[in-house]
Amino acid sequence: MCGIVGAVAQRNVQGILLEGLKRLEYRGYDSAGLAVLDDRGVIQRQREVGKVAALEEAITNDPPKGHMGIAHTRWATHGKPSAQNAHPHMSGDRLAVVHNGIIENFETLRSELQGEGFEFASETDTEVVAHLIEREYRKAANLTEAFHRAVALVHGAYALAVMHADEPESLLVARQGSPLVIGVGIGEHFVASDQLALLPVTDRFIYLAEGDTALVRSDSVRITDRDGKSVERPINRFEHSADAVEKGQYRHFMLKEIHEQPDVIRATLEGRVTESRVLERALGTEASELLGDIRHVQIVACGTSFHAGMVARYWIEELAGISCSVEVASEFRYRKHVIQDGTLFLTISQSGETADTLAALRQARDAGFRAALAICNVPGSSLVRESDLVIMTHAGPEIGVASTKAFTTQLTALFMFTLALARHNGLPETREAELVAALHQIPHQMEQILGLNAQIEALSEAFVDKHHSLFLGRGSLYPIAMEGALKLKEISYIHAEAYPAGELKHGPLALVDSEMPVVTVAPSNDLLEKLKSNLQEVRARGGELFVFADDETAMTDSEGTHVMTIPHTDPILAPMLCTLPLQLLSYHVAVLKGTDVDQPRNLAKSVTVE
Ligand code: G6P
Repeated sequence: MCGIVGAVAQRNVQGILLEGLKRLEYRGYDSAGLAVLDDRGVIQRQREVGKVAALEEAITNDPPKGHMGIAHTRWATHGKPSAQNAHPHMSGDRLAVVHNGIIENFETLRSELQGEGFEFASETDTEVVAHLIEREYRKAANLTEAFHRAVALVHGAYALAVMHADEPESLLVARQGSPLVIGVGIGEHFVASDQLALLPVTDRFIYLAEGDTALVRSDSVRITDRDGKSVERPINRFEHSADAVEKGQYRHFMLKEIHEQPDVIRATLEGRVTESRVLERALGTEASELLGDIRHVQIVACGTSFHAGMVARYWIEELAGISCSVEVASEFRYRKHVIQDGTLFLTISQSGETADTLAALRQARDAGFRAALAICNVPGSSLVRESDLVIMTHAGPEIGVASTKAFTTQLTALFMFTLALARHNGLPETREAELVAALHQIPHQMEQILGLNAQIEALSEAFVDKHHSLFLGRGSLYPIAMEGALKLKEISYIHAEAYPAGELKHGPLALVDSEMPVVTVAPSNDLLEKLKSNLQEVRARGGELFVFADDETAMTDSEGTHVMTIPHTDPILAPMLCTLPLQLLSYHVAVLKGTDVDQPRNLAKSVTVE
């Protein structure tokens, strides 16, 4: 996590750094800082606890000016959020460093450097990098050499940007396990953890590869790969319009992103499905060959993406008749696996940079899986580059920390993948055509659900003074209950737990009373009658029910039961529609509670540390 921005230009870069930080706040926001090399050759540094706005305010009266600078917004890992621990960190007053990631051997390096007389002013792992470069600089011909030597001594996952007052034209960067892009301007260059930070100044980007370091000057970029060889990396053009990262008419990014779902689902389907079938080649040139060979699918992901994987398990087993297991990446990566022949390793990630998911993929590479498929939203991300096959979701930039449109586009991609796989495993053409027709209806049906916004807002009032809530679902709707509970807890801070409705009587029923709202999604499917009995169990204990049922269930309001009707789809696709009311519910509860919807406390959007 943490966000890095840097710039070296002919103009004052302070405004560019600050704007970049604001756009990176989704990565972390407990403190922020910047360092600018001024025209007298002095590094001006300012650091503040809290959000970027606090930093902006602190420099309003006397903003530092200079042609080169680095900046950082932090999500604390080593050391509490404080001005002292905020980046940039310095060695003496001539070298400044910003860092994203974790330096694993920082304790050893720290004692070594302390033994050599370096004094530490923070509790962070980053500060060792500053002193290490300074130490090497004293022995090296120039900053680049010192930087390479220092980086070779550091273990862990990091993205680094460094500047030294002695070299007013050199920004040194490194990427190992944490993202970093170089923005290419005219006579100026920029660096950032995410290209979104730099969209106001450029739309051309160079993606660094793992292990790359670069010397970035206003008029040149020199990249060195992990073996020390000089390399060229291509310049890519950013394909989304700059509007994609503005809130527009919406109060929060989350609300905007919820409303974008019909369009981004259409975009994810575009060119990949006809009226009646999935175009296999659109999933990748090797897709046909690969799909015929798959005997098992192992899905690995984190957070919301994990929930998408859980839904896909129901789809893959039901439609393709292929066994599928799903696991959170942080668990998967630390245990032994029994790998069946023909196992496809499938990762799902919005950012493509989640540390645990990437580590799991790298481990799977060595473990003998048949192939690695990634479902991802960020072109050029590590996950995309390291997988054999990729299905891009076309959700566009997602800024709200709570994932919404990324999730439903992941489901879309997973469903297309499932249909292609199922075709190789005997799914009749007519059934595929039926399902594809239903899939084409989803965006429109989502628009109908978004039309319920005001009613859902009214419902949300019942949650504002509650401390706990329960989400129930059965079958493929159980992961949707999990996703609903995750949304509510992450942005409204109300404790929310999800249970498969059939498990209710094995424990959670003991918690149910009038203070515990119970939310469920109830499409008309084979499990509806079973679910209704579970809901009776809740009512019998005085629990208040909030039911999102489809219009074929004939469920209506009754004492203590609030029913909201959503459109009916083929039961297998119900997870896609049932997600939306739960997103809107948690959004409105959070707004009523006055929490920071887009940047909830303690969280970050892109978790690039373990
Ligand atoms: C963080 C985000 C979640 C996201 C998860 C996995 O926890 O706050 O919204 O679902 O990371 O991220 P990924 O980018 O791999 O989907």
